[in-house]
Amino acid sequence: MSQPKIVAFAGSLRAGSYNKKLAALAAEAARAEGAEVVVVDLRDLALPLFDEDLEAATGLPEGAAKLKALMRDSDGLIIASPEYNSSVTAALKNALDWASRAEAKDEPPLAAFRGKVAALCSASPGALGGLRGLVTLRSILGNVGVLSLPDQVCIPAAHEAFTDDGRLKDERKTRQVSALVNHLVGTLRKLNP
Ligand SMILES: Cc1cc2nc3c(=O)[nH]c(=O)nc-3n(C[C@H](O)[C@H](O)[C@H](O)COP(=O)(O)O)c2cc1C
Repeated sequence: MSQPKIVAFAGSLRAGSYNKKLAALAAEAARAEGAEVVVVDLRDLALPLFDEDLEAATGLPEGAAKLKALMRDSDGLIIASPEYNSSVTAALKNALDWASRAEAKDEPPLAAFRGKVAALCSASPGALGGLRGLVTLRSILGNVGVLSLPDQVCIPAAHEAFTDDGRLKDERKTRQVSALVNHLVGTLRKLNP
């Protein structure tokens, strides 16, 4: 059986991010299914705001090149993101924009995205659990060549949803995360037997 490679990250930078907890849980579930998972903290990448002049002058910043290389080398993505004002966060869009850029003339376009499969989830203190942001995220990912699985997991009332050690209190939600991730790993195995 093949071992799919997955990159997991959250669309939030803050240390106590509920979505970082969710990404970590999803990564753990994917590892339990036999996938190789790298969890990336976007804060560690210290990505500057995308600026074509900066790119022209110095190329991809180190953090952007690292994220892009990890994504290129992966089969799948796990993205857990809050919604900001009903859409994707600036940090997430910025990371996706940097990763979309070519570093060499002969590089295939959107090499970090095309042919990848993504599992999407979200967490928010609000009642919708960040659901609306995932609609926009799906649209962005579809336009850069990523197939997003139709199922997703949203965690409402996220400020009350996690235990102190980062697990979900609601067993049903834990099962949903596992099911989503199992679907991702299973799909990747079908695509890359
Ligand atoms: C600029 C901004 C806009 C936000 N807009 C929304 C929103 O539209 N819907 C929502 O459910 N929560 C919204 N929130 C609250 C976030 O969901 C909350 O801060 C959440 O904890 C962020 O995710 P994190 O815990 O992973 O950092 C917003 C927060 C910020 C800072």
